[in-house]
Amino acid sequence: MEATVGVTLLLLSAFFCFANALSSNYYDHTCPQLEPAVIDAVKKAIISDKTVPAALLRLHFHDCFIRGCDASVLLESKGNNKAEKDGPPNISLHAFYVIDNAKKAVEAQCPGVVSCADILALAARDAVALSGGPTWEVPKGRKDGRISKASDTIQLPAPTFNISQLQQSFSQRGLSMKDLVALSGGHTLGFAHCSSLQNRIHNFNASLDIDPSMHKSFAGRLRSICPFHNKVKTAGATLDSTSTTFDNAYYKLLLQGNSIFSSDQALLTNKKSKALVSKFASNQNEFHKAFVKSMIKMSSITGGGQEIRLDCKVVR
Ligand code: HEM
Ligand SMILES: *[C@@H]1O[C@H](CO)[C@@H](O)[C@H](O)[C@H]1NC(C)=O
Ligand SMILES: *[C@@H]1O[C@H](CO)[C@@H](O)[C@H](O)[C@H]1NC(C)=O
Ligand SMILES: *[C@@H]1O[C@H](CO)[C@@H](O)[C@H](O)[C@H]1NC(C)=O
Repeated sequence: MEATVGVTLLLLSAFFCFANALSSNYYDHTCPQLEPAVIDAVKKAIISDKTVPAALLRLHFHDCFIRGCDASVLLESKGNNKAEKDGPPNISLHAFYVIDNAKKAVEAQCPGVVSCADILALAARDAVALSGGPTWEVPKGRKDGRISKASDTIQLPAPTFNISQLQQSFSQRGLSMKDLVALSGGHTLGFAHCSSLQNRIHNFNASLDIDPSMHKSFAGRLRSICPFHNKVKTAGATLDSTSTTFDNAYYKLLLQGNSIFSSDQALLTNKKSKALVSKFASNQNEFHKAFVKSMIKMSSITGGGQEIRLDCKVVR
């Protein structure tokens, strides 16, 4: 009996050791200048484009939710293979060039050593920190994958999802309700196109045109930006009132009916998630602390990567 428990524990710890192969000091000897090189590339890009941090954070989220954090989101379509970045929810995925610039700087110092997946995880952390958010040590040691399929993007949560669909999407990746609420706070940065929010402001359901959980004047404002026959492809709205600052305004607005997506609003339809929204709305420090914890969890979702790409857009 005791021997069985001992062997089981041994096997379990071997498994977790394998699954958690990432470490904060992974490149200490092989690429000591990695982190400053990535920060530098992110900083330079922000100077001419304030939307870069939001883009980098979203890229990392999409990467981790499909095939684990393996930089599959960075690969380009090739031959008849349509890559993730050309899949339907690709709208607004941008700032790929920032990762390419960081990779070039890193390759110049330590060629063939650092994965694109690690560079993306670092860039997302820097994006948050440079927007006034918290900072943290990023566990590293991810490998880059060789597969990227547009059809996989169907696995991403949709902005129309209700709380049970969101919970399911997150729990399939080992993420809890608290992770869901904290990571949704990523919507403190960035922008949404009309197509992502129109379900709430036109033909909401068979009896109502507008989602009644939205604040009336907010819905009215969105309807004037996003008319039913919207012709302006670039039209849309920022995800919160301070869309380049990593603050807790997202949660405050959410409580007032001023959130953008049904999936944001859905966080108020469950007792536990609603309590967390209220907590983060009233205490920015609690939000930042929870966000860091959940980001480390999300960015440690293991991928099937095997290699270190030389160019983040193509497999080796
Ligand atoms: C909970 C499920 C989530 C859903 C349904 C969702 C959905 C969306 C949608 C539809 C957009 C707008 C796309 C567009 O219209 O251009 C968006 C933008 C964004 N999302 Fe999420 N998202 C989710 C979770 C996350 C997470 C976990 C993060 C990061 C921690 C994140 C970070 C962002 C950022 C930063 C933007 C703005 C991108 C930009 O301005 O370039 N989202 N999200
Ligand atoms: C997004 O995907 C569509 C087709 O699925 C493609 O036509 C479009 O060029 C892609 N957009 C971006 C910005 O990659
Ligand atoms: C969420 O949507 C799914 C699919 O439409 C449905 O089966 C489920 O009952 C809904 N859950 C809630 C809490 O509304
Ligand atoms: C439309 O949505 C409202 C608010 O959620 C709900 O009370 C109503 O029953 C819905 N109507 C239909 C026909 O589904």
